[in-house]
Amino acid sequence: MQIGIKAGNPVKSRSQCVVIGLYENSLLSPTAKLLDRASKGYIRKVINRGDLTGKIGQTITLHDVRGINAARVMLVGLGNPESADASKYIQIVNATIAALKRIPVKNTLCCLLEAEAGAKDLTWKTRRLVEQFNAAVYLFTDMKGEAANDANGVSSDGVSSDGVSSNGDASKLESVELQLADKNDRATVLAAIGDANAVAAGIAFAKDLGNTPGNLCTPGFLADKAQDLAKSYESLTTKILDEKEMEKLGMGALLSVGKGSEQASKLIVIQHKGAKPKDQPHVLVGKGITFDSGGISLKSAGAMAGMIFDMCGAASVFGAMNTVAELDLPINVIGVIAAAENMPSGQASRPGDIVKSMSGQTIEILNTDAEGRLVLSDALTYIDKFNPATVIDIATLTGACITALGSHPSALYANDDELAGNINQAGDETYDRVWRMPLWDEYQKQISSAFADMANVGGPEAGSITAACFLSRFTKKYRWAHLDIAGTAFKGTGPQKGSTGRPVPLLTQYLMDRANDAAQN
Ligand code: BES
Ligand code: MN
Ligand code: ZN
Repeated sequence: MQIGIKAGNPVKSRSQCVVIGLYENSLLSPTAKLLDRASKGYIRKVINRGDLTGKIGQTITLHDVRGINAARVMLVGLGNPESADASKYIQIVNATIAALKRIPVKNTLCCLLEAEAGAKDLTWKTRRLVEQFNAAVYLFTDMKGEAANDANGVSSDGVSSDGVSSNGDASKLESVELQLADKNDRATVLAAIGDANAVAAGIAFAKDLGNTPGNLCTPGFLADKAQDLAKSYESLTTKILDEKEMEKLGMGALLSVGKGSEQASKLIVIQHKGAKPKDQPHVLVGKGITFDSGGISLKSAGAMAGMIFDMCGAASVFGAMNTVAELDLPINVIGVIAAAENMPSGQASRPGDIVKSMSGQTIEILNTDAEGRLVLSDALTYIDKFNPATVIDIATLTGACITALGSHPSALYANDDELAGNINQAGDETYDRVWRMPLWDEYQKQISSAFADMANVGGPEAGSITAACFLSRFTKKYRWAHLDIAGTAFKGTGPQKGSTGRPVPLLTQYLMDRANDAAQN
């Protein structure tokens, strides 16, 4: 997607569609006023017929408007300017994109930077527009046959774009120009477009990895992707630990998960050096279960359906590292991926098995389907050697998280209030939101074990919390947060299924904020 800026008179634009806004009670935005005047009141006349009142979600497209060079004028409802806010702005952008996808336009002049978004500024509006437009044109076609690829763009199931969505309709849209209200905004908007493009690339990368099916996306495949990524950026290096090396380190928990699989497990380390070597790094740890059958505690066919997406935490680490390298952030960041496949076999872990983790703590595996916490526990112990400033792990960890919070926020757990606050802020900023959950001591006893130091499951109550409690036993030495993204990282299992790319927007914002802090000190 090409995104540019335009400062001239929109009346003169030769674009295939000019998008302008209309507030409730038929209040025209500045650009709408301009176009209305050029059309000798035609736009106002259309509005007076009542086809569009300015409510959010409304759009109508006018053709060949006299006095205006563009082929189409799309009127978009902006709601009440007094109650404008971030969420409403995003709804406006999504309604606009959905309407643009229904018509065969390749380019558009979008005049929505002038629309009110409450307290949000021009940079924020630019980033939202660029990221949502990029999300709107994302398609995962790598696996389609050639014939299907030739016919690409004809599908029209009418699914609306929700910005961080996955595999919606093909769109004809190739380029968007953002109309500037003031040419002095140039530098601000161009900088925001640059940041947004880097974030969008990270999101698309995470989506591609998430969507790649389990027969191709194996731990080895992820290791290769890390090597490829490091080759593309000067600042990145990788290190891949194989099973032998992990055995030497005593990673009995991580290794127990891949025992039933033909695929060798990998621990993947991607390092971005953006600051002095002694500067403490921010560390991201991703759950990379490339397929989760449940193991001997086998899932039902229905529950197994989405389990190619059980490496979306890992994918978000890849995406964030991609963006961090692209922006060359002046901080040190390390991405670690615990990659394994959870399969049943004669070699697989049995319910009741006890393993020893790298931390020295022993774990009774009461359910082989609670495998994410096992691979994460050893990865979280391993990263202590980096002396991290902060650690965030990201995992499609529990179905219980979906029951608790649905698909709007990711669940946030943290052993540090400042870190939790920073993550929360990054989530609000990008609208890739989180909701903090308790890590109270009272929950810890649910994972006590008769024979080992802990059990890997905590019973039917508070499943997302007890999973986080399990992880907390391996993260005592540093400032740590855990994101359970089971409800947010992907959607559906049918023809509309796909990875959302979340929480790449959140993670990259969090790291950009840390880079800003570093620059200030
Ligand atoms: N990968 C699943 C969690 C999951 C479920 C993610 C649905 C996305 C959608 C995880 O490994 C798992 O199987 N968790 C179990 C834990 C249970 C055995 C304590 C679960 O949630 O059922
Ligand atoms: Mn599982
Ligand atoms: Zn899993």
